[in-house]
Amino acid sequence: MEDKNIYVPISLESIEPVIFPDVALFIKTGGNYVLYKNSGRDFSEHDHERLSKSGVEFIFVSRDDMDVITSHMEASAGRLLKSDILNARAKAKMIYQTSINFVNDLFHNPEKTTDTNRSKRLIENLMSFLSDNPGAISSLETVMSHNYHTFVHSLQVASLTLLMHSEAFALSRDEMLDVGTGAILHDFGKIFVPQEILNKTGRLSDAEIEILKRHPEEGYLYLKSKGVLSPVALTIVRHHHERYDGSGYPLGLKNTDIPRSAQITGIADVYCTLTTDIHGNKTIPSHIAAQLMRNQMKGLFSPHLMNTLEKLVCTEDVQQFIL
Ligand SMILES: [Fe+2]
Repeated sequence: MEDKNIYVPISLESIEPVIFPDVALFIKTGGNYVLYKNSGRDFSEHDHERLSKSGVEFIFVSRDDMDVITSHMEASAGRLLKSDILNARAKAKMIYQTSINFVNDLFHNPEKTTDTNRSKRLIENLMSFLSDNPGAISSLETVMSHNYHTFVHSLQVASLTLLMHSEAFALSRDEMLDVGTGAILHDFGKIFVPQEILNKTGRLSDAEIEILKRHPEEGYLYLKSKGVLSPVALTIVRHHHERYDGSGYPLGLKNTDIPRSAQITGIADVYCTLTTDIHGNKTIPSHIAAQLMRNQMKGLFSPHLMNTLEKLVCTEDVQQFIL
């Protein structure tokens, strides 16, 4: 019988025995998912050692258990990054592994398997590049430990930004890495925004909005002073809130004066914010989000780049209603 469950891979290295949530774990053998342990029993040091010795890299959990896994990762990532237990290399590896876990769960749309696989490959390349780039990875580490939601959101935005670039333009590998690095650090400036504002669920006051709106320029100035990002990546950090009709910030740039990769990151940013809540759950369907951006937010985004977004996130049936 066909297995209807959807499994999400979790890298073995990112699992801390005993404290890992008590959920059923599966291993993949010969294309099938086989139950390794049911809930009700801890995943022990011994389990970890045994699987690692047999060359198992990934263990799988049911998609329905991802909420509890995400909360666990959030708590343990914050704790490990702030502690001295791990050296810089191990921290970089942890960020890499956690990112891969999340990307496997992004843009879940059964009709878009090719795009999901493409997006996964793109982010894997980016993360492996970042792991060897101490300046960029430590910036990402700072984002992750300041606000986990910002980190997960940045991953989503980077995935979609890369996917849109690969769909619409023929960029070299280096150019894609530049764009991906800028997109994953687009909200770096939020490390200067207090947690209370970032995590507030109600309406922000005018003063709070003013503080929040400083993040593109502050992120840009800080990262520029560190000299770790390319000009393209810095441009994304600075201009991802500029809007096509000139109503954005910090500079109010218009139309094609806004660098293309910053425009794409801005579209990916708004789309991901509309479709996913602060806990990483899906809120509104892809086509409704695209419709909102096209109609209620008319003029804010390049119509041409909106076509690229819709091509990727909407099924063909839905596209004809949007146009
Ligand atoms: Fe932002």
